[in-house]
This record gives sequence, C-alpha cells and structure tokens, in this order.
Amino acid sequence: MLGFQPPAIGEEEISAVADALRSGWLTSGPRAAELERRAAEYLEAEHVLALASGTAALHLALVALGVGPGDEVITTPITWPATANVIVHTGARPVFVDVRESDLNIDPVLVAAAVTERTKALLPVHLAGQVCDLDPILELGLPVIEDAAHAFESRYRGRKVGSISDVTCFSLYATKNVAAGEGGLLATSREDVAEAVRDLRLMRRSDGSRYDIPVPGYKANLSDVLAAIALCQLDKLERHAEIRRRQFAAYDSAVAGLGGIEPLARDDRDVHALHLYVVRIDPKAACGTRDDYQRALAEENVATSIHFLPVHMLTWYRERFPDQPGLPVAERAGDEILSLPLSPAHSDDDIADAVAALERVHTRLAA
Ligand SMILES: Cc1ncc(COP(=O)(O)O)c(C=O)c1O
Repeated sequence: MLGFQPPAIGEEEISAVADALRSGWLTSGPRAAELERRAAEYLEAEHVLALASGTAALHLALVALGVGPGDEVITTPITWPATANVIVHTGARPVFVDVRESDLNIDPVLVAAAVTERTKALLPVHLAGQVCDLDPILELGLPVIEDAAHAFESRYRGRKVGSISDVTCFSLYATKNVAAGEGGLLATSREDVAEAVRDLRLMRRSDGSRYDIPVPGYKANLSDVLAAIALCQLDKLERHAEIRRRQFAAYDSAVAGLGGIEPLARDDRDVHALHLYVVRIDPKAACGTRDDYQRALAEENVATSIHFLPVHMLTWYRERFPDQPGLPVAERAGDEILSLPLSPAHSDDDIADAVAALERVHTRLAA
C-alpha cells in the first residue's frame, strides 16, 4: 500500500530522541525551550509556546482570550472537528459559516454577516496550506485565532503566518509539515496571551516551601522527547519543501489532463505550505463519485484521505444544533474532495505510481 502521509523521519530524529532520553528530560525541558526559540524566529512571532497538541493550542488560545459560556466563535465547517470541539469545550457556541468555492477556506463576507454582539472571536483555518483571506477578517476588529495546523510555512501577502493575528496555532501531529508525532505550537505577539497560556498549559507549583496553585491549569505542555524530533524537522523544512514542490507539480500536470478532477485553488500572492494535495471530483465530468475514486484507488493500493467532512453535519453537531442553516458550498465539497498521497517520505516514483493509478481509475470509470 502506498501510504497517504507517512512521516519523514530519519537517523537525525532517532539519535535526537536517544539524546533526549539520555539527558533525563522526559518532560518539558531545554529542548522544548529551544523549539520555542527556533519556532519564534522562523514564524517571525514574538512569543511561541510549545504545547501537547494543536488542539490544546486552540483550546488554550480561546481560554486565554476569555471565551466562555454565552459567547460565539465564528469558524469554518471545512476543518478537522478539533477546531469546533475546543469552542464547545469552553462553553461557547461555534457559529459555522460557508466557505469559498475556490479554495474551501472561510468566506470573509459571510464571517462579517455572522458577527453579533455575542461574537467573542473569529477562528479561521488555512486549509491544505492556502491561507484564507485574512485582511477582511482582521478588519472586523475582533480577536482572531488562526488555525494554522496546515500552514507552518505559509505567508499571506508577504506576511508570515504566525506573525499576523492575535494568536496562531500550529500542529506537530505525525502527518504535519513539522511532525513530532504529537504536539502543538501557539504563536502570539500579545504579552497577556503568552503569559496566560504559560500559566494554563501546566499546573505549576508556585514559589514557597509548601506548594500552592495560583491558577487551575491544564496539562498541555510538550515533552522534550517530542521537541527533539520537532527540532530536527525544522532543520529539514527546506529540503522537505523542495520534495513537496515536486510532488505538487507532478499532480498538477497529471490532473490537468483528467476531466472532472481539479485541485483546490492556490493564490499566487501567498506562499502555500503545500501540506495537502486536495482535488475535487465532479461526479458527472469524472464519471464517478469521490467515494468511487477512493475505493478504486484503494484497490490499486493507493491510500487517500478526506480533508474534511463538514463539521456541522457530523452527528453531535447535527443533534446539538438542529437549526443550523445549510452551508451549500461546504456540503457539496464534502462529497467531492479527496486528498492524494503526499509526503517527503515518498519518492518521485511513489508519486508517479499514485498518478498512474489515478489515470487508470479515471479511464476505467469513464469507459
Ligand atoms: C485543521 C486542523 N486543525 C486542528 C488540528 C488539531 O491538531 P492536533 O492533532 O495536533 O491536535 C488538526 C489536526 O490534526 C487540523 O488538521
């Protein structure tokens, strides 16, 4: 089976983990601190905090901004459910607005229309590595938390993602461009947010002979063992990006010849992180549904994935918010999108195999 997004881990990561274990730092220590310094430099951010996951970063960002019961947070339905789940965990209500047809990122016009006096924050996502249209969202004057789980390398109109909004959250999950297995990073230029998250991520013993708890913190710090992996991955960013560029180019030229199959739009004014290669499959023009293609590719030993099914249609959200209006662009896209294998761990031959399989499936379904 050609894996969908196998991790690109080498001897460097293996020996860095061994060094971390030998050092005795199993929990957060000098490597997590070094990761924060290196990531802040790369992301052009004033503060970066290393956390246990991208989900924890999003959650603590909301808590630090004071989001709670009675508040609303506007977000996109085309995301991993964690983005919405953390809003629910604060007691606030996620308000889903539809996405743009071109890149399936949140539509800023609809965000503006959904703002009420209860709106406490806006939580856009940069799907696949394409930054959403941030300027009109920032102009609304509300706190913005970017879900940049897919967008470590992205730039928006020249500005580095991580340096733009109140808070930007990244994931170090196994499939991500900087993969530690698990982990997250929170970037912010706001001193108050950085300070609050520092207190919240770990229950700290305050000074004194007997311990005391000044803040009922969470347990969302990053271990040095995982930070050691992330540090190696930072060193490999450019090398891996070069491989991703070749893989994107191979898919671009292949799908250009396949009727009914089109990649999501990428905006030339921005830097795309090339995290996921997502195509839309028009069932009429491609003579098969996305599910037909996914099944047929699996039979060809090519693993694919879906990023994402609209969150508002998943069971808990459907049952909890029965009055949620339809979001037609997201709902149609949810049936049509397919993510193709992409990883620096794949060779050019692997991607050529995936392309050949896709071409065979297209020909077979069209016959
Ligand atoms: C868009 C998006 N947001 C949030 C997350 C959550 O990140 P994590 O798995 O590190 O908690 C993910 C990831 O997996 C994601 O793809």
